Amino acid sequence: MKEQSDKQPSGRVKHPRTVKSYVLRSGRMTFGQEKAFTDLWSVYGIEGGLKGDGTILDFEQLFARQAPVILEVGFGMGDSLIEIASSHPENNYIGIEVHRPGVGRLLGNIGERALTNLRVMQFDAVEVLKTQIPDNSLSAVYLFFPDPWHKRRHHKRRIVQHDFIQLLRKKLLPHGQFHMATDWQHYAQQMLKTMIAAPGFTNCAAEGEYMPRPDYRPVTKFERRGERLGHGVWDILFEKKAD
Ligand SMILES: C[S@@+](CC[C@H](N)C(=O)[O-])C[C@H]1O[C@@H](n2cnc3c(N)ncnc32)[C@H](O)[C@@H]1O
Repeated sequence: MKEQSDKQPSGRVKHPRTVKSYVLRSGRMTFGQEKAFTDLWSVYGIEGGLKGDGTILDFEQLFARQAPVILEVGFGMGDSLIEIASSHPENNYIGIEVHRPGVGRLLGNIGERALTNLRVMQFDAVEVLKTQIPDNSLSAVYLFFPDPWHKRRHHKRRIVQHDFIQLLRKKLLPHGQFHMATDWQHYAQQMLKTMIAAPGFTNCAAEGEYMPRPDYRPVTKFERRGERLGHGVWDILFEKKAD
């Protein structure tokens, strides 16, 4: 039998292309977002990527205190995260987003409110989770309105997949929560189905059910508009089982 090889005819080793859950948009930065970047990145920003010994984040050092750490994946313009972090000074928050204007906007808002419990990363959240977040360290992960990738051929780009969930499981503390919300029914169904099948999690709602929106998740402008148009929103909340 012929042995399988990763080598191409050229002799070069073929690296599998990883499917990304985002496309980098070339959105223009406003003057305020640029200024926030220049002035505030050094205060509230965390560098993403591999950086030798300093790669794994030390939360206690980062926030100069010990408190539950909650991470939001893909915060967009940061409107939910800024409200949540302002209303919950008892927790520490890390927001991760690849879209630079959103990062600039959130930095500006943190500066305006002088929050000390919120830090920002501009990087692929999947890579950050794999390389920079300690195991068993997060109290919760939020994933609000992730890109729905509605065409069937793009479903593989949806971030809620078996591997991503198992990565989160590794990073969450026992009883740590994974909270998703979406206004795309097909994606909501997939999220729920995938979470029910995922080992190591239990549904915080009744078995097989969605969760009513928890009070801490603010209703965004975009969501209010959807509500007026009669669109639904589904919250899905699961907890990591203690081993
Ligand atoms: C549809 S938007 C929703 C933004 C925000 N959560 C909200 O509720 O308005 C999804 C966001 O996730 C970001 N995103 C997708 N995959 C990501 C990843 N792997 N790492 C960081 N950000 C990501 C995208 O850049 C985009 O801004």
